[in-house]
Amino acid sequence: MRKPLIAGNWKLNNTIAEASQLAEALKTELGNNTNTDIVIAPVFTALASVTHICASSSIQVAGQNCHCVDSGAFTGEVSAPLLVDAGCSHVILGHSERRQFFGETDNFVNAKTHAAINSGLTAIVCLGETLEQRESGEMFDVITNQLSLALNEITPAQTENLVIAYEPIWAIGTGKTATSEEAAEVHAFIRGLLSGLFNHEVAEATRIIYGGSVKPNNIGALMAEADIDGALVGGASLTASDFIAIVNYPKPLKVVQK
Ligand code: 13P
Repeated sequence: MRKPLIAGNWKLNNTIAEASQLAEALKTELGNNTNTDIVIAPVFTALASVTHICASSSIQVAGQNCHCVDSGAFTGEVSAPLLVDAGCSHVILGHSERRQFFGETDNFVNAKTHAAINSGLTAIVCLGETLEQRESGEMFDVITNQLSLALNEITPAQTENLVIAYEPIWAIGTGKTATSEEAAEVHAFIRGLLSGLFNHEVAEATRIIYGGSVKPNNIGALMAEADIDGALVGGASLTASDFIAIVNYPKPLKVVQK
């Protein structure tokens, strides 16, 4: 069974002091939680402080991006080994905001995914369709392309360090969540693709998490879906009480363990 993973993507928010305060508040409430993998992704400048705070807890820390080359003349970039050096265990890759505002292509996301996994990070690879793509019936083709290109030449063994985040672009920061049925349909489709790209075991073991206006009041319905293994939370992860409520979503009687 797949262990739930709830990740907070803090995006471009919080000073070091603010990030540290939020991490402390989360650690107090969630620091001993081992039923769910909890990951938070602060800005790069706050990583060292946040990883220091979370070191003695079960909360793990992610970078929001990394470059595909380890070091060299790449002004402004941060590499996967440097994220490891800062205490990160995860990295978010291919977020739609990176694709939309910084021109990241599927091939670039693929190179970053290799770099991240080869450095020992777990890559949280994001994909998702626009509203136009959904409405024009292109959604499944878009998802198929994004997934197969992002995972090009990734081996089945490497998928142990892989999480897929389905984030429909029209649901990000809009307050417009995909219904749990809409999300579940795409998650099941992605699991089928993973089975084809790798094998049935990989498809069953890989966590597919949902992102897009996840809030305390919709996480329960999303997590009740068999193929939704967690959430990538943006806005609501900036408020400690909301993120804590999301991690502590009402569970069905059956406890899910990896
Ligand atoms: P919101 O939860 O603010 O919609 O953001 C989702 C997201 O982009 C997480 O990566």
